[in-house]
Amino acid sequence: MRAALCPWPSSGPGGMVKTFDHLEPARCPREAHAVDLRKDQILVRVNLGERSYDIVVTTGEDAGLGAFAQSLVPGKLAFVVTDEHASAHAHMAERSLTAAGFQSNLAILPPGEAQKSLSTASLVYDRLAKCHADRKTLVVAVGGGVIGDLAGFVAATYARGLPLLIVPTTLLAMVDSSVGGKVGVNHPQAKNLIGAFHQPVGVWTDTATLVTLPDREYRSGLAEVVKYGVILDADFFAYLETQADALLGRQPEVVRQVVARCCRLKADVVERDEREETGLRMILNYGHTFAHAFETVAGYGTWLHGEAVAAGMACASRLAERQGLIPREVTERQLRLLRRFGLPTAPEAWPIADLVLTMRSDKKSLGGRLRFILPRKLGEAILVEDISEAEIRRVLEESVI
Ligand SMILES: NC(=O)c1ccc[n+]([C@@H]2O[C@H](COP(=O)([O-])OP(=O)(O)OC[C@H]3O[C@@H](n4cnc5c(N)ncnc54)[C@H](O)[C@@H]3O)[C@@H](O)[C@H]2O)c1
Repeated sequence: MRAALCPWPSSGPGGMVKTFDHLEPARCPREAHAVDLRKDQILVRVNLGERSYDIVVTTGEDAGLGAFAQSLVPGKLAFVVTDEHASAHAHMAERSLTAAGFQSNLAILPPGEAQKSLSTASLVYDRLAKCHADRKTLVVAVGGGVIGDLAGFVAATYARGLPLLIVPTTLLAMVDSSVGGKVGVNHPQAKNLIGAFHQPVGVWTDTATLVTLPDREYRSGLAEVVKYGVILDADFFAYLETQADALLGRQPEVVRQVVARCCRLKADVVERDEREETGLRMILNYGHTFAHAFETVAGYGTWLHGEAVAAGMACASRLAERQGLIPREVTERQLRLLRRFGLPTAPEAWPIADLVLTMRSDKKSLGGRLRFILPRKLGEAILVEDISEAEIRRVLEESVI
């Protein structure tokens, strides 16, 4: 086994986000943003030089979105992209944009991963052309990760780039896909094969939009939340343990704090490896090598992504134990929390040979060598290479329900 050096100091994310301040993420200096924050709003600044942007985390603050948008772009034309399940939130966004002086257009797409395609992107291009969009036109993505990725891809490519405002409405989109600028569509050969890095000009996260999100989708998003605690922040993990019921009950204050913390943690990684060049961003793939194999072998859609990630983290943690990296207790705490969130902690009885084969072809494997992000302790993870296939098989055999 060859363990790559941990990209962070052994104390964890260290300078990036070390102090937890009782879950009060640092607010930016006033001059960093143009909106006035309410007391219950949290601001997360993503520092990327001239591509820096703010994420506002709020609850039930429809009116603020328009003012926020106005502070970001000089133009007065907004193009809102959403799907049928998030359309009520998109209508709300439109009202707010209109009240702030925007002329707004709306494209409502069918829901689902199938919309992340070049053909749907092409339909949206047609609509943009029809309303004479130019480089000042603000594309507003109101929805989950599918809409964010698709509308983001359109924004990155139409007229060589339009400003993008993301309004995430799933927990996964709030804590993951709206941070970091990865946009794209799928190719029949592989997910997310066609894409770009296109940072948004801002993210408006209103946790009140989660009220309509189905329970299974919400729980699925919690898997990514747990992931951040395991790989980057032991204090945050402990907070999740104590606030699990409040989080499951979608208590606004707790949801806001959790969303903001996850955004801060992901932003800290993205700020150091914006374009996935140094390998740092790979740490965010904890549990994902196993998860992609589960999704592929089970058939996409059998499990939600977060469900696969939950079982994937459980397997990765067992693997870390086998490698002597962590004591059993670290795995046990993850399993307890994931089960509390109603998430699976083991794969179903899928053929192990198929799972291993899929992992070998994973884009994270290097020349067929299996590489994994594994916890070294709670709040810290490392990249481990050259794990033998026999080890993976053993973990899968032990894990299968
Ligand atoms: N760009 C990135 O960095 C990144 C990171 C992680 C995931 N992703 C991508 O994100 C996508 C998954 O995102 P997702 O889990 O949000 O899926 P999704 O966008 O498909 O949303 C899940 C479901 O919830 C519905 N929905 C959305 N908001 C709702 C609301 N408020 N109320 C009721 N229903 C609502 C959607 O219509 C859909 O049916 C994948 O395509 C994945 O590749 C991208």
